[in-house]
Amino acid sequence: RISILLTVFVLILALAGCQNGTSQSGVSELKLAHNQTLDHPVHLSLVEFGRIVKEKSNNKIQVKIYPNGQLGSEREVLELTQSGAVDVAKVSASALEGFEPDYSIFSLPYVFEDYEEFEKTMNNKDITDKIYYQTEDIGIIGLTYYNAGVRNLYTKNREVNTVADMKGLKTRVQPSQTSVNMIEALGGLPTPMAYGEVYTALQSGVIDAAENNETALVGNNHGEVAKYYMYTGHQIVPDMLVMNAKRFNKFSAEEQKIIQEAAEESTLYHEGVWAKTINEMTETAKNEMGVKFIEVDKSSFIEAVQPLHKAYAQDEKTRDIYQIIKGAGTNE
Ligand code: GCU
Repeated sequence: RISILLTVFVLILALAGCQNGTSQSGVSELKLAHNQTLDHPVHLSLVEFGRIVKEKSNNKIQVKIYPNGQLGSEREVLELTQSGAVDVAKVSASALEGFEPDYSIFSLPYVFEDYEEFEKTMNNKDITDKIYYQTEDIGIIGLTYYNAGVRNLYTKNREVNTVADMKGLKTRVQPSQTSVNMIEALGGLPTPMAYGEVYTALQSGVIDAAENNETALVGNNHGEVAKYYMYTGHQIVPDMLVMNAKRFNKFSAEEQKIIQEAAEESTLYHEGVWAKTINEMTETAKNEMGVKFIEVDKSSFIEAVQPLHKAYAQDEKTRDIYQIIKGAGTNE
């Protein structure tokens, strides 16, 4: 009888451990999902995140990465993170817009003057803590952000120099209402879809254009079909590393600190990898794929989206975050 009781006891312990994501050996595994390829800078920075977590925890916390959208689109992965089936996810801030209106601010075109302003904002803990913990009640917290570059427009066969050239351009955007509104304000026809579908949609002519940083051209082969890349610089949308809130809160204070520090250190590491990759990929797109890179005068684009800024400053769901990001009283 004692041995039966012992077996039951051990089983209960094992189950409790599993529920916690902790194996019998005391190792906690964090399942991390993202939608980039293995040579993308974000993947390399997530590997670095895992390495630091493992090292600082003396192998007690280990990160297992599921890349390439294996576990689904960003929206699906966020839902899995909410439910706890996935522990950590790297998604675009745009994908979080459907979960928390504060994140929509990052898709508001030209909300940041330039990358420096964006970086200053993202490194201001007063601002980011508010955003990162805002989603705790829906089961997710933010750990850090990664530079995802500046988003520019690219087309299959149309040069776009001013906003007038956007007329009727079927343009893929991220599944974010703000991005849909942006393309509408610019005169194009927005087509929201998941990232993994963009290459085929461009190739088959379902869309004429898309918009992203330069890695999309080479890493995701969009440069094979899109030959014009215009530096419209309309959005600077960070990538976000988010975690299931319950899972995070179950870790001890010391372990939470390890995860947090590893996340922040991987953001710094990412900056170096990012800069190098963007240069390399731009050269490859130019020289090997025949993509033409075009500087544009942004003024007509900036002007066309001003009604969106007005609406953001007034809407009760977005006005606080808009003021915080823009600085009280400016741009009104
Ligand atoms: C960027 C971002 C991805 C996102 C993609 C998109 O590449 O890093 O997380 O999925 O844009 O346009 O959907």
